Amino acid sequence: MLPHLLLEQRLQLAVRAVFPEADVTAVLVRPCPDPKFGEYQTNALMGLAKARKLNPRQVATEVLAKLEVAEICEKVEIAGAGFLNFRLKPLVMAKTLEAAAGGEHLFFEKSSAPRVVVVDFSSPNVAKPMHVGHIRSTILGDSLARLLRLLGHRVITDNHLGDWGTQFGMLLVGWKTLLDQVSLQADPLAEMERIYKLISARCDPEKPGFDQPTLDQARSELVKLQSGDPENLDIWRKMIRLSQNQFETTYHRLGVKFDHAYGESFYNALLKGLVEELVEKGIAAESRGAKAIFTDGSLPPKDDPLLIHKEGEWVANPFIIQKTDGGFNYATTDLATLAYRIETWRADEIIYVTDGRQQLHFRQLFHCFRRWRPEVRARLAHVWFGSILGEDGKPFKTRSGETVRLSELLDEAEERAFKVVSEKRPELPETQRRQIAREVGIGAVKYADLLPNRQSDYIFSWDKMLALNGNTATYLQFAYTRIHGIFRKGGVARHPAGACPAPVLLDTPQELALARHLLNFGLVLEAAAEEYRPNFLCNYLYELAGHFTGFVENCPVLKSEPPQRASRLILCDLTARVMRQGLEVLGIEAIEQM
Ligand code: ARG
Repeated sequence: MLPHLLLEQRLQLAVRAVFPEADVTAVLVRPCPDPKFGEYQTNALMGLAKARKLNPRQVATEVLAKLEVAEICEKVEIAGAGFLNFRLKPLVMAKTLEAAAGGEHLFFEKSSAPRVVVVDFSSPNVAKPMHVGHIRSTILGDSLARLLRLLGHRVITDNHLGDWGTQFGMLLVGWKTLLDQVSLQADPLAEMERIYKLISARCDPEKPGFDQPTLDQARSELVKLQSGDPENLDIWRKMIRLSQNQFETTYHRLGVKFDHAYGESFYNALLKGLVEELVEKGIAAESRGAKAIFTDGSLPPKDDPLLIHKEGEWVANPFIIQKTDGGFNYATTDLATLAYRIETWRADEIIYVTDGRQQLHFRQLFHCFRRWRPEVRARLAHVWFGSILGEDGKPFKTRSGETVRLSELLDEAEERAFKVVSEKRPELPETQRRQIAREVGIGAVKYADLLPNRQSDYIFSWDKMLALNGNTATYLQFAYTRIHGIFRKGGVARHPAGACPAPVLLDTPQELALARHLLNFGLVLEAAAEEYRPNFLCNYLYELAGHFTGFVENCPVLKSEPPQRASRLILCDLTARVMRQGLEVLGIEAIEQM
């Protein structure tokens, strides 16, 4: 068993010996922030003490008295306000590394209680090109899905395409009156976007080009579509197919796959019954011709998503599920989608990855769903993110002020990477340089997106993201090739098959620091999954590369004597394995040579 898991188990036993009634699931360890004090730390005892109005250091003393960890820890100490710090025996560290080298684990264990987790991400809208705003959802969502899968959960990914709604009335008018077949062949999404923009400008009473007949026409095309008119259904299906083909091209470049792409329209047939049920149960009510869910007063106003503070007062902020014209909307569809995922997939957890502007929608959705289905225990999470800004600090746009199309962004990333690779390695054949450029370019874009705290905005900078030095994908990919370089140079095979080939010796501070960091991989994966933050993993890998550099600069590998040489090669190999696995979770290619 991995030392941190064994430690948690023993700690929980000790806590139970002191407080037999305590819930010990939150009694966990994490890496010690300062390695001077040990490898692991727990702050859980302070919480237990606080809840019981006891002195935390006293509680720590009592738990310590019951704690049996002599075979793994050299020392356990009470620190600060009631932390416990654990120092592992170096031999335990070495044995753990040897087990990893023998292929028994890679410093993490699969969850002992796997969940069914639905990840709803990317979800672009039909007939509109995916733009840079969809990039974060796609990259973050994909990485979370990979992470949860690695930890043993059953992950179901679903691309909730925006394939239904009022925009289709306008698109149909545009399709029937303005469509240019040649442009449609060449770039379907661009052509659909063009006709949509022209018609929607005519349908907006606020705009100078407003035209009442066009608006009426759009409404009637929409009604025809909704009531099953074959011609309109046909065009609508074609628009979805063309859009999906183009989305697929982008997903393919990004290495992103979905289990399903049900889309909003999939739920249409369920919406009428859903609204009726909510009205019958008294959860939704009619209000000025529309149907909506209002506050039931069960929450304090400041926590109630169905209330809003306006001019010194709390006023209704309802969740509208049927419009005055009888149509259903985003909210209705999302309620139906949620119920479907719980019922059909038996989801234990559903994660929605969208930008921060949808926070209110999801707070309302989750709250209303709980009122509708109070028996459902599933964990619902809105994993939201901030915007991508240009170097001027304003929303990221092209020079001419257009939103940046994702496909063009990826083209540019590859082009720039190709230039760098061609400068550094002119001797490589072009196909190989192109291949490296793809992996480096796409990796750079992904990493730049995953590294910042997802809730902050970040500034998109080509130079920064492709830098060879600094916290970038390129730097990590380069570190990985350096490890391979050592094996190439020494003429040694990388993966020693089967059992660990030699004892691991941790004699120098750099070897110890590297070993300690490798051991933390599992804890970092767990924390990233728990908080839906792949940036924890980015920082971990960056530090891993740093520890590795410290190690090779101070500890000769190929030139050292046999027992040490073998041990050091094991450290190199394990670093490479963790680096590759970590990059894979981020959706980034590990490159052997660049
Ligand atoms: N199509 C939406 C958009 O582009 C995102 C959908 C997110 N998922 C959901 N179940 N609401 O903003």
